[in-house]
Amino acid sequence: MSKLKKIAVLTSGGDAPGMNPCIRAVVRTAIYNNLEVVGIRQGYQGMIDNNMYDMNTRSVSNILNLGGTILKTARCLPFRTDEGMELAYKNIKAQGIDGIVVIGGDGTFTGALRFSKRFPDIAVMGVPGTIDNDLYGSTYTLGFDTATNTVIEAIDKIRDTADAHDRLFFIEVMGRDSGAIALRAGISCGAEAILLPERATAIDELIENLKAGQFNKKSSSIVIVAEGDKSGGVYDLAERVRGQIKFYDIKVTILGHLQRGGSPSAFDRILGSRLGFAAVNALIDGKSRMMVGLEANHIKLTDLEEALTQHTYKLEDDLMQMSEILSI
Ligand code: F6P
Repeated sequence: MSKLKKIAVLTSGGDAPGMNPCIRAVVRTAIYNNLEVVGIRQGYQGMIDNNMYDMNTRSVSNILNLGGTILKTARCLPFRTDEGMELAYKNIKAQGIDGIVVIGGDGTFTGALRFSKRFPDIAVMGVPGTIDNDLYGSTYTLGFDTATNTVIEAIDKIRDTADAHDRLFFIEVMGRDSGAIALRAGISCGAEAILLPERATAIDELIENLKAGQFNKKSSSIVIVAEGDKSGGVYDLAERVRGQIKFYDIKVTILGHLQRGGSPSAFDRILGSRLGFAAVNALIDGKSRMMVGLEANHIKLTDLEEALTQHTYKLEDDLMQMSEILSI
């Protein structure tokens, strides 16, 4: 039998569509198992500020379709300090909380791991929530599917106008360390080139490919550039190409934060529900310092430490190669 009586849930780092379905699942699974549930606002900041409230079944009504996070989120620097962490612990103990579900990305998990090592009497369970899809231990993270679909919708629209004007567009998508969105969106939209943080960009090769496209009578070209690409930023890149390509009018679009918003896709609603449900059940089973993920469509638990040390998104070279062949 579990000793757990009261758990808390928080979202931290960049928000991701699917966080709300996950919060809903955590709250309702906890209540179903006769646990009390507390919502912590603004991630770790709320632990430090004691910004928490009791949640019940109705606190999570009608949120499956909402983007963002009803608990709000933050990137909390004070939680990285010993004083911040101690204050957070004091507030958690005072509330009688003995387990926490943290929904977020690698920064969130780094905080959770440090907290759990320092205060092992509080059980911690991570749920991968980031549009970047860059966590080891889960094939998909919450928000990645919705964000990719949002990007696709935007790029399809840009393709219309690019085609109408015979233009070349450089489009920056999110992903400071991860090319996951860029690669999937690139394949889905038939991008002529995809530039990623995981791969050095050969500008000469890019220019040659764009010239070949024009020779092959392409009327427009789309180059998707992940935010973290190392070739100096999308404007700089466009400038360098402009110097060598005269046949296309060149434009730049940065999609920015619109990629993080919007109603979660069916995939992210179901993923959020499954991961939230599994996270609470894992806590009830006495597990801690782990992350619940989805591998081969099955729930899998991974040590937080392992998830973090292996965390980078592994670029699928085969997909990259396929994309290059299909976009000629
Ligand atoms: O981690 C998700 C993410 O959207 C990254 O892709 C992006 O680099 C970063 O967050 C942006 O963070 P912020 O909203 O704090 O500027």
